Amino acid sequence: MRTQVIKPRIREILSKELPGNLVDLLPKRWVKIGDVLLLPIRPELEPYKYRIAEVYAKVIGAKAVLKKGHIYGETRKPNYELLYGNDTITIHVENGIRYKLDVARIMFSPANVKERVRMASVAKPGELVVDMFAGIGHLSLPIAVYGKAKVIAIEKDPYTFKFLVENIHLNKVEDRMSAYNMDNREFPGENIADRVLMGYVVKTHEFIPKALSIAKDEAIIHYHNTVPERLMPKEPFETFKRIAHEHGYEVEKINEIRIKRYAPGVWHVVLDLKIFKR
Ligand SMILES: C[S@@+](CC[C@H](N)C(=O)[O-])C[C@H]1O[C@@H](n2cnc3c(N)ncnc32)[C@H](O)[C@@H]1O
Repeated sequence: MRTQVIKPRIREILSKELPGNLVDLLPKRWVKIGDVLLLPIRPELEPYKYRIAEVYAKVIGAKAVLKKGHIYGETRKPNYELLYGNDTITIHVENGIRYKLDVARIMFSPANVKERVRMASVAKPGELVVDMFAGIGHLSLPIAVYGKAKVIAIEKDPYTFKFLVENIHLNKVEDRMSAYNMDNREFPGENIADRVLMGYVVKTHEFIPKALSIAKDEAIIHYHNTVPERLMPKEPFETFKRIAHEHGYEVEKINEIRIKRYAPGVWHVVLDLKIFKR
């Protein structure tokens, strides 16, 4: 999946059909997830969006085209409009991992690619990793496939969970990866994980006490959150440390990475944290 520069063939076809200079406003970049295209469409092109989508699909080779929109709510669902085709379920291959998903209904951020790839080398064989916000296995499939670690993946949304289970089979890691369709706050495991993934944004801090209870007395937590730039670099570490102290843990920050700009002046970051029970 990568963004690319507009193909001359698209311009050639649409320059004969679009009035005035509208051809100059055609999307120059897009995202291809499996064989589904995500296309940003400017408001000026709204009346022609279905035809534009059809031409992009045919030239680029996609079975469906969605108009790019935003990701909403607790289960981080995209709000994309279908412009072309009808089947938005696809298999996207990235770093040798097969991710099956419905692009119209499940988020798969191109900007998180480095983090998905990084996860392939963080864990050791035999470790137990708990992914509290598994999605379709975005971050934990690389851990199971390349790290050969044992993974427990928790996903609340039943539709997303269906793909998580399929992906475990598609990537042949049934022997070491299992999935639970539940709210992670109800997950019964305590003091079991060598590593906890908290791949969530906006209110990840609310889940810190649960992550600490799932983790062993010494463990690594990959803590994601969104943070206003003006509060960095103190945040989000200060908040994590405060909550951890309240629960009897010391925390050491091993690493901090900016994943992407989430909104104007707001970053999505991940911290690798080592925790120790006092
Ligand atoms: C934004 S996606 C991120 C997927 C992946 N962790 C990543 O970082 O790319 C977050 C996922 O967490 C799930 N989720 C949200 N709250 C949850 C909860 N309390 N328990 C389990 N899953 C939850 C959502 O349904 C969604 O699939």
